[in-house]
Amino acid sequence: MIMPNKKIDPPSDDKRWKVVETTIRRNGSSAGALIETLHSVQEWFGYLDDQALTYVAHRLMLPLSKVYGVATFYHFFTLKPGGKHTCVVCNGTACYIKGAKKLIDDIADQYGAKLGETTKDGELSVLGARCLGSCGLAPAVVIDGDVKGNISSEDLIATLQGVINHDA
Ligand code: FES
Repeated sequence: MIMPNKKIDPPSDDKRWKVVETTIRRNGSSAGALIETLHSVQEWFGYLDDQALTYVAHRLMLPLSKVYGVATFYHFFTLKPGGKHTCVVCNGTACYIKGAKKLIDDIADQYGAKLGETTKDGELSVLGARCLGSCGLAPAVVIDGDVKGNISSEDLIATLQGVINHDA
């Protein structure tokens, strides 16, 4: 049985960790707590990095090796973003109904990167999520950590263009 360790602070005061914390509290003692927690981190941050995995290990009081083992075993976990920028497109039911597929297709047309891929120039990684927990905002995406809801393809491409050009 996993007993969450309440004394560990999140890696930063990024408010997305609050959502991850809710998942940890909800699944604290269940057998699936690790997988659910990793899902939550990935859905909000787009990928799992060393800092996040270390935090999850401490928080759930598990050996880091076990956390790495699970994160690398399942193909739906992404260990690090290939691209400089990350766009997570929610592909859950509500978002799918409200046009997530068109967003994914239009990103692929514009940038040549499908879900799980990074553009050839390394600027953008496109990732999918099951449900970001913001179904009222469907279709929802998370661009470099910013949630954008009710987004159209045109707005999404314009936002991505802006993010990519910003550091060009
Ligand atoms: S299905 Fe997309 S936020 Fe829930």
